[in-house]
Amino acid sequence: MRNTTCSKLDTIFVDRWSPRAFLPDKLSHEDLMTLFEAARWSPSCFNEQPWHYVYAVADEDLARFQSVLNDKNRSWADKAPVLIIAFSRTRFRKNDKPNRWADFDAGAAWMALNLQAHRLGLHCHAMGGFDEDRAYEVTGLDRDQYKALCVIAVGRRADPDVLPEDLRARETPSDRNPLDDMITEGCMTE
Ligand SMILES: Cc1cc2nc3c(=O)[nH]c(=O)nc-3n(C[C@H](O)[C@H](O)[C@H](O)COP(=O)(O)O)c2cc1C
Repeated sequence: MRNTTCSKLDTIFVDRWSPRAFLPDKLSHEDLMTLFEAARWSPSCFNEQPWHYVYAVADEDLARFQSVLNDKNRSWADKAPVLIIAFSRTRFRKNDKPNRWADFDAGAAWMALNLQAHRLGLHCHAMGGFDEDRAYEVTGLDRDQYKALCVIAVGRRADPDVLPEDLRARETPSDRNPLDDMITEGCMTE
């Protein structure tokens, strides 16, 4: 299903995937901070580091973060022991000008966090299906300064049996489009 003919590719890229079945087991504080530390070392425009994470691990916080998710995502992500809301800071700190690269940089940081999770035997699953207004309400962040990008579930994988029936069959790593679909050599115009 998930294969590549590229023999030099690091297996981390193909082995990482986004399950929905999570064990409720708590993560150690050290593991969680290691994920954020991986994000911290990501490259960014002018080294602005425009990512910001608000996270929930305590049960009462998790309940409030779950209320940010749409129903479909909540039906599986309510088992995850960590929920992170990822934001980008929309303006540069040094001059308050709009940072049009902020989401690009926050995307790079999320992938670093995700790959580090994989190295620690954990899994992440990003969710765009959430209520933005509720994300600002729950976190208290100012929407004039921060853009709510995604909610990320983190934890250890569980048996697919823990999932609602309609999601069980989808609990397999997904494939990718061919490489030729995403690359173009040279100029496309005269
Ligand atoms: C920005 C973003 C939004 C996503 N939104 C959702 C979502 O709302 N619900 C969901 O179940 N998966 C969501 N996903 C997970 C993707 O469907 C998944 O990453 C993709 O199918 C590739 O699978 P893989 O991560 O297992 O390789 C999202 C992923 C990203 C990066």
